[in-house]
Amino acid sequence: MATYSFITGASSGIGYAVALKLAEQKRSLIISARRQNKLLDLKKQCLKNGAREVICLPFDIQTAKGLKTLTDFLNKNKTLKIDILVNSAGLAKGTELVSKSNIADWEAMLNTNVKGLFYTTRVLLDRIIATSGHIVNLGSVAGRLVYEGGAVYCATKFAVRAFSEGLRMDLKGTGVRVSNIEPGMVNTEFSKVRLGSQQKADLIYDDMLPLSATDIAESILWCVNQPPHVNIQEVVIYPTDQASVGQVVRGVKSLKHKKK
Ligand SMILES: NC(=O)c1ccc[n+]([C@@H]2O[C@H](COP(=O)([O-])OP(=O)(O)OC[C@H]3O[C@@H](n4cnc5c(N)ncnc54)[C@H](OP(=O)(O)O)[C@@H]3O)[C@@H](O)[C@H]2O)c1
Repeated sequence: MATYSFITGASSGIGYAVALKLAEQKRSLIISARRQNKLLDLKKQCLKNGAREVICLPFDIQTAKGLKTLTDFLNKNKTLKIDILVNSAGLAKGTELVSKSNIADWEAMLNTNVKGLFYTTRVLLDRIIATSGHIVNLGSVAGRLVYEGGAVYCATKFAVRAFSEGLRMDLKGTGVRVSNIEPGMVNTEFSKVRLGSQQKADLIYDDMLPLSATDIAESILWCVNQPPHVNIQEVVIYPTDQASVGQVVRGVKSLKHKKK
């Protein structure tokens, strides 16, 4: 059976863009997220881009039932191998202070960004070791620096960074590479999901030039296309208009980057 590249969070944003880029390399893909209609659209695009084969595997990464969908699929496809796992499924919910924040939002972030990513990786790990493959985790600059109103989201991304480091240690000698990708502001559905409306999300990127999902996908492709002895452990990518967390330049100054 063929070897596949597996992308979680493929229905939108960074995961979607990575799938399109991996398709250009004529790979076989398994694309996953909850929204099946978006996965079906992406499948068509990937096949147009040159993907050899595309399997849509919709499931909710937060739930035991969702993860059972994944294990059932693997049990039916016992010889299937994975060469690349891109763990892009993730979200932030809310910007309230801890004292005012909603526990259901915490659950969504912890169950998706931490447990969902950890369990998916664990379930696929033997198949990745079999190819000396590559695990690419979507961390964030929020996994390096904490900001007010982001305690739990930042904690989940610190956890992803720790998991990436630990995996590298536990996988030494297998040839498996682990890269932690840590973007600043990327204009995807992320802010709409976090803030609850497109209008609020648009204000986040008002009068500045954020990164695009394709910018991050290109960095991920650069990591996975290094020769096998080269492991890019971490990539920190900010837009030029964001000097650090909370350090965003807006207005005329930012416009000059748009002209290049
Ligand atoms: N955008 C940024 O500024 C930014 C910065 C740093 C890091 N990141 C990280 O990059 C990753 C991708 O984010 P993005 O910017 O591409 O956001 P996005 O456009 O909102 O995409 C998030 C993806 O995760 C999937 N997802 C969310 N909850 C899920 C669940 N319970 N089960 C399965 N899939 C789920 C979504 O699909 P469904 O809704 O269809 O399930 C979607 O495909 C995230 O881990 C995020 O934390 C983003």
